[in-house]
Amino acid sequence: MTREDVATRLTELAQQAEACRNCALGSSRTRAVFGVGNPEADVMFVGEAPGFHEDQQGEPFVGAAGQLLTKLIETKLGLKRADVYIANTLKCRPPGNRDPLPEEVEACKPFLREQLTLVNPRIVVALGNFAAKLLTGSTLGITKLREREFKMRDGTPLMCTFHPAAALRGGNAANGIAADFEKIKAALDTLPEPSADGSEQLGLFG
Ligand code: URA
Repeated sequence: MTREDVATRLTELAQQAEACRNCALGSSRTRAVFGVGNPEADVMFVGEAPGFHEDQQGEPFVGAAGQLLTKLIETKLGLKRADVYIANTLKCRPPGNRDPLPEEVEACKPFLREQLTLVNPRIVVALGNFAAKLLTGSTLGITKLREREFKMRDGTPLMCTFHPAAALRGGNAANGIAADFEKIKAALDTLPEPSADGSEQLGLFG
């Protein structure tokens, strides 16, 4: 798929999310928050769900947690926010920012699945418990999951870290997320360069 085809399909999906009523959140939120960023990003972040500011603006991670995420992208990865792709597990804000319900995660899953397929990043980063549990299929908490290495079904590395909102509260998560972004940078730096046709370059005998 060309960059334009991917961007067009992402726009169509965003429109479907805006019209979606597959769970009750579609009726209570202000705007669906589909995702933002480079349709050909090397790194795709998956958060939890929109909060107040995201619900108002229709863009993920624009509040305080988002400012921290943007700072980590810039300072630790040496990238701009527009270079990466950012999405959430849920596209609609749960009232009062309560935790997502299992049926909401289930109803929203097809959107995230297609975003991952379309963007086809070289590294996926799960931010916090909800994204990490969904993407790894594990019931372990983020403190354990961030210490482990995962691959998506297609072999793409999946890294788990604390949610930036948890990092804003200080403690382990603040230092932990900074250390994890250094690991993400190291992983990005050691990935083989993609070849012009998009396939991975294998070693001489690959
Ligand atoms: N927290 C999230 O998980 N996602 C957002 O978009 C904002 C805050």
